[in-house]
Amino acid sequence: MALCTTIAIDSTLCNGCGLCAAVCPYGVLAPGEDGLSRHDGRDCFLCDHCRAVCPAGAISIEGHGSCLGLHTVAEKAQGPLPGPSLVAETVALMRQRRSCRNYRPEPVPLVILEDLARIGTTAPSGTNCQGWSFTILPERADLLRFGGLCAEFFRRLNTLAASPPLRLWSRLFGGDALGRYHRNHRQSVIEALDHWDRDGRDLLFHGAAAAILVAARRDSSCPGEDAMLATANILLSAEAMGLGSCLIGFATEAIRHSPKIRASLQLPSEEDVHAVIALGYPAIRFARPAARRPVQPRVLRLAGEERPG
Ligand SMILES: Cc1cc2nc3c(=O)[nH]c(=O)nc-3n(C[C@H](O)[C@H](O)[C@H](O)COP(=O)(O)O)c2cc1C
Repeated sequence: MALCTTIAIDSTLCNGCGLCAAVCPYGVLAPGEDGLSRHDGRDCFLCDHCRAVCPAGAISIEGHGSCLGLHTVAEKAQGPLPGPSLVAETVALMRQRRSCRNYRPEPVPLVILEDLARIGTTAPSGTNCQGWSFTILPERADLLRFGGLCAEFFRRLNTLAASPPLRLWSRLFGGDALGRYHRNHRQSVIEALDHWDRDGRDLLFHGAAAAILVAARRDSSCPGEDAMLATANILLSAEAMGLGSCLIGFATEAIRHSPKIRASLQLPSEEDVHAVIALGYPAIRFARPAARRPVQPRVLRLAGEERPG
């Protein structure tokens, strides 16, 4: 947890409205005798709500910028007003984003990939840890090198998964991970590796021009959730930028289990990769938005006292 001394309230600007205290999840802000906001000196997790809500601009937080520092996107000081047209646009963007498996060969400028990583940081994170990191592979040649290492990993895994005694061992001690891989993926991976060797067809990254690896520090409150929420924001923004994207779970798994791949990607030992996002300009545009199986949410109303005990 960060120290609250990094929150500064300018008493010449504070108008005593109390909004900062009202939004503070830790309750460390309160009006002083003069009615102006004071920090009580306790630690907080620097969520930035107080600075963001203050109508007088009286609060600053050391080390926090007021914008993301994007180079390819004009940042707005105010978001759009909530309402039906914003909902319609948002849902349309979400439905328009599909996993892209057909890319044009041109590269994605590094400055765009860097902006996407910055946009990822708009996601929520457990106790505002923001323990994520973003590794950009902007060159297709590096995706091919990375893909070669993944191919090596999956060849070895295929040999292991072909062994019934090892699958039995995995079922008894390893939660059946090897058996599940054998049943669900081994054959398609054999075919993909065959293509990779025979005609250079890239069924791992689908010919994407670049990738962003989203990792998180293991000591964060919720590393997996934080990384995947940042990933979702990157996927949606990539769609809005006219880029195609696809999560590559096979590459994430290969990184997770191969020290050699981790080393080649120069990943810090305290981080785990939770998502590999392939990116590039789409060669094909979908004519219709995503269709999904209908979902019926369960609606619950609990009987009994409002506050038991
Ligand atoms: C965690 C995760 C891992 C995925 N891994 C792969 C992958 O390795 N290769 C691939 O082509 N698609 C991968 N996908 C994409 C899914 O197949 C895709 O999201 C799903 O079919 C729904 O299609 P849509 O994304 O176009 O809506 C992955 C998706 C998720 C969420």
